[in-house]
Amino acid sequence: MNKLIVLALLALASTANAADRSVAERGRKNYVEFGCVKCHGIAGQGSVSGLKLAPDVLPADAIITFLRGTTGPMPRYGAEIISDAQIIEIHAYLESRPKPASPDSIAALKDIRGKR
Ligand code: HEC
Repeated sequence: MNKLIVLALLALASTANAADRSVAERGRKNYVEFGCVKCHGIAGQGSVSGLKLAPDVLPADAIITFLRGTTGPMPRYGAEIISDAQIIEIHAYLESRPKPASPDSIAALKDIRGKR
């Protein structure tokens, strides 16, 4: 492939990544400012007061529906409190949390499993 085309493609890819990062970054801010962090933990890992939200993240529209409609232990977040766009940013943040390593890639765990 022509060198210039490769360079142009690389430049495009890095702008897309930068854009994803800034959406996720805004999502992180919303996640903290709207208090999600207090019950669900900074990485969405969950706690005694909130379920685990990441790394297996619900689709954005399911999160929006849940926030708008919940009557359970979690406070309801209506559109007058947080916009769909802000929830979509939170979704991007949760999606950006790293997946855990496979137990098979951790030597100590592999040893234990082997001895069973
Ligand atoms: C006061 C604590 C609290 C706060 C603040 C809070 N949550 Fe929750 N959240 C919960 C609890 C408790 C549940 C479980 C609710 C249930 O089972 O009805 C839950 C459930 C959820 C679920 C459903 C998860 C599932 O797998 O069913 C989502 C999505 C969610 N929260 C997202 C958020 C987001 C996004 C925010 C911030 C805008 C937030 N929560 C703020 C406590 C909280």
